[in-house]
Amino acid sequence: MSRTIFVTTALPYANGSFHIGHIMEYIQADIWVRSMRMAGHTVHFVGADDTHGAPIMLKAEAEGITPQQLVTRIAAERPQYLQGFHIAFDHWHSTDSPENVELSQGIYLKLREAGLIETREIEQFFDPVKGMFLPDRYIKGECPKCHAKDQYGDSCESCGAVYTPTDLIDPYSTLTQASPILKTSEHFFFKLSDPRCVEFLQSWTNGSNAQGYKHLQTEVLAKTREWLGNGEGDSEVNLGDWDISRDAPYFGIEIPDAPGKYFYVWLDAPVGYLASLKAYCAKQNIDFDALLTPGNATEQVHFIGKDIVYFHALFWPAMLKFAGRKTPDQLNVHGFITVSGEKMSKSRGTGISPLRYLQLGMNAEWMRYYIAAKLNARVEDIDFNPDDFVARVNSDLVGKYINIASRAANFISKYFDGQLAYPGDAASLSSHWTQAAEAVRGDLEIREYGRAIREVMGHADQINQAFDAAQPWLIAKGLADADPAQRDALQHICSTALAGFKALSVMLTPILPVLAQRVATDLFGQPQSFVWSDAGVLPTHINAFKHLMQRVEPTMLDALFELPADAAGKDKAGAEKTGKAKAGAATAAGDKNAATIATPSDTRLGADAAGSLIPGGEPIAETITIDDFFKTDMRVARIVHCQRVEGSTKLLQLTLDLGEGRHRNIFSGIQSAYQPEQLIGRLTVVVANLAPRKMKFGVSEGMVLSASHADPKANPGIYVLDPESGAQPGMRIR
Ligand code: MSP
Ligand code: ZN
Repeated sequence: MSRTIFVTTALPYANGSFHIGHIMEYIQADIWVRSMRMAGHTVHFVGADDTHGAPIMLKAEAEGITPQQLVTRIAAERPQYLQGFHIAFDHWHSTDSPENVELSQGIYLKLREAGLIETREIEQFFDPVKGMFLPDRYIKGECPKCHAKDQYGDSCESCGAVYTPTDLIDPYSTLTQASPILKTSEHFFFKLSDPRCVEFLQSWTNGSNAQGYKHLQTEVLAKTREWLGNGEGDSEVNLGDWDISRDAPYFGIEIPDAPGKYFYVWLDAPVGYLASLKAYCAKQNIDFDALLTPGNATEQVHFIGKDIVYFHALFWPAMLKFAGRKTPDQLNVHGFITVSGEKMSKSRGTGISPLRYLQLGMNAEWMRYYIAAKLNARVEDIDFNPDDFVARVNSDLVGKYINIASRAANFISKYFDGQLAYPGDAASLSSHWTQAAEAVRGDLEIREYGRAIREVMGHADQINQAFDAAQPWLIAKGLADADPAQRDALQHICSTALAGFKALSVMLTPILPVLAQRVATDLFGQPQSFVWSDAGVLPTHINAFKHLMQRVEPTMLDALFELPADAAGKDKAGAEKTGKAKAGAATAAGDKNAATIATPSDTRLGADAAGSLIPGGEPIAETITIDDFFKTDMRVARIVHCQRVEGSTKLLQLTLDLGEGRHRNIFSGIQSAYQPEQLIGRLTVVVANLAPRKMKFGVSEGMVLSASHADPKANPGIYVLDPESGAQPGMRIR
């Protein structure tokens, strides 16, 4: 029976580019969607940017643009990744859309009607300088337990203690350095602790969908029991009401009948799934409301990572249920991807950028294959290991699977004009492949991708062994004077191998859609891409074999792992662990130590051993993208005041106007080159989005740019940058 399935992936925050974790999630979902479509089911597969919340608002502000502009810029990046990795979303939307406003407010009003919304006064830290309530992540202070400085508002990175921001000693706002004050405000709550919600969630989390699949994986269900208890009288329910409002200023959706109050981003984010589907339906003339009528057969399936289970297994189903809507049918939770055993970290440079992967010309289907080979249906982390990647792609994908076609096809083209013929019982060969494909299809449906690939490679081994055992190349050699039976034998051996190759191509179609499409059209001459039932249809003819897939060059992975320039010197240990740092990467600009270590000793000559000039005593740093460049926000600043710093022989303290309506304090190591009076009144250039740094003499809120030679002995000068007159404080350098 044909099913109708509505599939989503988590909506990525619109304040940054995709990383490999996002791509992994999309690959997982995309494989599932393609497999379902190949089985004849109708799938609506949508995504969207998650645009709201304080971080995006503040990031936009720091860049001097509106949140909408920031979101638009990020949205413009998305297609190159999605197309690049062959992710077949039907539609990509935004939570900052009219559909989402309407749906979010509508759902809220239904919850209110149901008596599940309540207001309460709560006391929270407020930044008096910025004039806003501070999310926990923007509050730092001294750990109440171990007294480590500069710890976040929720937990201590030094001793692991967990607390609330009000427990911090000497808390400060990371936005302005100001001491936050406690202020009360009215907040809106979704009453999850209401017995109706608890009862519903206890049953939904344990439930199954119409296909007999559990709503939740076993380990996810177990997690929800920590919050919900096991539904028996004696177990404890740990479900607090959920604070769904935030006060202005906030980039979000207004709460109806509550001026100055906005939905907390996590309220409208999952509603974005519906908003995206709705926009898609409008485009396609599909009846959105009918599709999602409670009780109808549409399956609603969400792919998400393990960090956002709480929102998807509790809040989201409860919101939908008590708004009178269809509840989710399946939550597919995956673990995290690590790189060479380390958590991804941009600053440490162990991450691999999906965009760089594509820009290096690496084949997206290698990545799809590799990730699929690692995935299963459990909530397990997977690791991207470069050696393993090369081995699996080269030995398995190319060495076993592609190899079948390249070996068998040429004999068929050369001696049989592309005609295939099978020995004796072709029906049993056909049913063999039908069954094998059905097993793989079943594994893909339950997200046991690794097992599916092991089965496919097991079949590839068998095909190759049978081919080797029959030694067709020997038959071909003596073919001129051989009897017709030998000729038939050669045709049968190669045809059988190619029928197997076709069946394996069908099985790999969800994982390698582009390659499989070429196999279908170029080699087997069929007009459309494979569907599952093609596996058992024995091919009767092939076209000339064309090269299908390159092997990975291991050096490509070296390039993929090149460290970002600013991280190279700082984390040499990390780089060595991955084994992928290039020697040259240590010559990073921006880190004086690294530069000194790596610069040849005769920098004063200004030339390296090969005689080429080393400008300014240090090689040009590694190439970055324009996006990398734009992460650095440089502004014109007027030096309002400047003075020596008592107790320092290096620093000058500058008071700067960046056109922000306030002054900044910046310490700069330029005392050897300037008298304070020389600088007062001048314009200069400041890195305006550097994290504020606490120094011995106070907090420095940025960096003044100046030019200098890498080796002060070669040239001790320091030259502060000086924009042409006419430039105004606050103008961006671009
Ligand atoms: N905006 C929220 C989701 C809202 S859904 C209504 C969010 N965004 S996110 O960009 O941080 O994460 C998006 C998805 O990527 C999540 O499913 C998350 O689990 C997943 N991943 C983030 N890092 C990951 C890895 N390192 N590995 C695999 N998936 C990871 O959360
Ligand atoms: Zn501590």
